[in-house]
Amino acid sequence: MATSKEYGLGEFDFPRGWFMIGTSADATRTPAPIRYFGKDLVIYRGESGKAYVVDAYCPHMGAHLAKNSTSYIVRDGEHVEGESIRCPFHGWRFGTDGACNHIPYSDFIPKAAKLATYPVIERAGIVWMWHDPEGLEPDVELANFGGHYGEPGWVEWKIDYMGDLGSHGIEIVDNMADFGHFVPIHGATDWQYFANEFMGGHLHQYYSAGHRTLTANPEDALVLDTWYEGPGFLQSEMAGTFDSFIMIANTPIEDGVSRCWHALMVKVHDGSRETTREDREMALAYQEGSRLAFAQDVEIWANKRACINPLAIPKDGPYAKVRLWYRQFYNPRDKAPEIQDRVNGLHVTLDKRPGQKVA
Ligand code: FES
Ligand SMILES: [Fe+2]
Repeated sequence: MATSKEYGLGEFDFPRGWFMIGTSADATRTPAPIRYFGKDLVIYRGESGKAYVVDAYCPHMGAHLAKNSTSYIVRDGEHVEGESIRCPFHGWRFGTDGACNHIPYSDFIPKAAKLATYPVIERAGIVWMWHDPEGLEPDVELANFGGHYGEPGWVEWKIDYMGDLGSHGIEIVDNMADFGHFVPIHGATDWQYFANEFMGGHLHQYYSAGHRTLTANPEDALVLDTWYEGPGFLQSEMAGTFDSFIMIANTPIEDGVSRCWHALMVKVHDGSRETTREDREMALAYQEGSRLAFAQDVEIWANKRACINPLAIPKDGPYAKVRLWYRQFYNPRDKAPEIQDRVNGLHVTLDKRPGQKVA
């Protein structure tokens, strides 16, 4: 395990971006402790159904807002009132802007009685939180995950928790450039094309080859457009045995420790008929195949030592560019354009498509 500073990523220990912090089922009317970005946080759901994330410790005397089962605030069901959360210790209540809006035994409310709050969006069965080391509002929109969630003919994903890994997010994002791992790890066959495109805050990987884990028939070519929108999650449009859409999230818990999830949606028909139980079972089986393919990467990450300086050879793919691209999220926002200017563009590692020069 190594830290962001040890990788030389920039000024901040934790990156800017949208991050998965749990599934929709994790946000309930019972506030729950969570820990990300080296911070103790609390997640809860207000009466309106909206999910919130706030700092865990009360500004009054430092009680943990969620780790309590015996206070009468908790026992009497006053822990969440409307959209506000009430501290189990002395009952101070905090609204959605984090400001204290009620003290049971005082009309005077100090201005400093304020909790830090974080932007949260629930989308595609997942709770996403905006983390910004500069404390600014989001400057990028959260992805819409191909627009496939809830679309007729698509079976929605379930979330596969993949583990808490002693690997920094950069080691996970390295995978985008990692041409050399596709044959040993994923059983790539019959390579056609492998390239990366750096586009501002986005990073794409274009893959065209067979894949022993994901295609039923090893001769079937798998065509993948895989990309990151920011540092925290990968999306992939996959045309193979079925059209499908993958999401892989990595969220820092501590500096150098990442929580990882996988999910996959499958298009089972064109939307002109009802989705059957068989369709759902087939989609789940396909998701399981994809999970197993990703678990092959995870097994490496869960056991490797940190790689501060890859011993890279030219045919490895553009690791150095990926790592430079990733640095934009660990530095102040106004430095991002300068980093993007240095990496933007297409890098082709292999091109054996008919009519192309052999790489
Ligand atoms: S510590 Fe939270 S109300 Fe006193
Ligand atoms: Fe991989």
